Amino acid sequence: MEKELSLIPQMNCIPRSFDANAPENFYTAPFITKNGMDNVLNHFVNRDSDIYVATYPKSGTTWTISILEHLINKVPQKGISTGASNIELCLWLDRAASGENWRSTFSELDKMESPRFFKSHASVGLIKQPARIIQCIRHPLDTFVSAWHHIRGKKYLFYYNGSWSHFFSEIALSEKYEGGDWFDYHEEFLQASEAGKIDALFLRYEDMKKDNAISAIHKLAEFIGVESYNAEEISRATDFQSMKQKSMAEGHLDTEGNLSDVLVSREVGDKNNPSKAHIRKGVVGDWVNYLSDDELTMWRNYVNIKKDSCPHVVDLFSLDNLLCN
Ligand code: A3P
Repeated sequence: MEKELSLIPQMNCIPRSFDANAPENFYTAPFITKNGMDNVLNHFVNRDSDIYVATYPKSGTTWTISILEHLINKVPQKGISTGASNIELCLWLDRAASGENWRSTFSELDKMESPRFFKSHASVGLIKQPARIIQCIRHPLDTFVSAWHHIRGKKYLFYYNGSWSHFFSEIALSEKYEGGDWFDYHEEFLQASEAGKIDALFLRYEDMKKDNAISAIHKLAEFIGVESYNAEEISRATDFQSMKQKSMAEGHLDTEGNLSDVLVSREVGDKNNPSKAHIRKGVVGDWVNYLSDDELTMWRNYVNIKKDSCPHVVDLFSLDNLLCN
């Protein structure tokens, strides 16, 4: 029987780091489990050279991965990567580790040349160190708008049918979306980087939009050690229109490495109509079309609560930008 939709999205809540005393307050997609993270901790043989595109979901992960694929000439023959299958450049390690075939996937990973690339939405405490981190960070309100479309549009995954308003107050601001609290997630990465615990490159989605990712392409190339590339060409091949067209024409790679149209739609949706498109609208500041005045007040109160415990996030964005003044 088909599972019913509800106001409680199907997700897992797991300890937020490998530390045995870590609080259990980190939310993950339903296919990522505590057992999977235990597999990473106990059985995944990491290397100093491993590189993770580690992002809060809906922040520009797929875009960043697509640029990397071009930089190292590993663009899939067809379709857009989502990290679901072993044939992609950036396998979603946490997902693979939580799947039935994790042992055979781990042995394949052992045979791969360095540097290996992975996708992850795990907190920094759930990424086996040492590892090098690439993180694309997006304004939280646009991230939440994209997240609502994601969680509603992909109903077969999350079985959630809340309105935008329900999602905003009861899921996103209640720290229950995938990735947990947006502030804490980023603060932990930024602090770890400042303390020299991780080698990280932070990119801002909004900056990438400003120059069609040209400067991000140069930074990514330097970070991964690629010297020969054509930034203009990569920028064009990975801009929103090109990726949208590719998604519409070819679809996305699924767990078996096949092309699927499950994440494809021409519709961008609005606050009453969720869209399942993974490459959906790709703009900055669309949150103004979603938040009511009351929700904006709720948001500002939330920022004021988080700002003292998350100073690095405030530095990165500026308080005014976060408060949407
Ligand atoms: P929207 O839903 O706001 O359109 P992620 O890959 O982390 O899941 O992020 C998905 C978001 O990035 C979606 O945002 C998607 O449209 C946007 N995106 C994907 N490719 C993009 C590109 N080439 N340029 C700009 N935005 C892109």
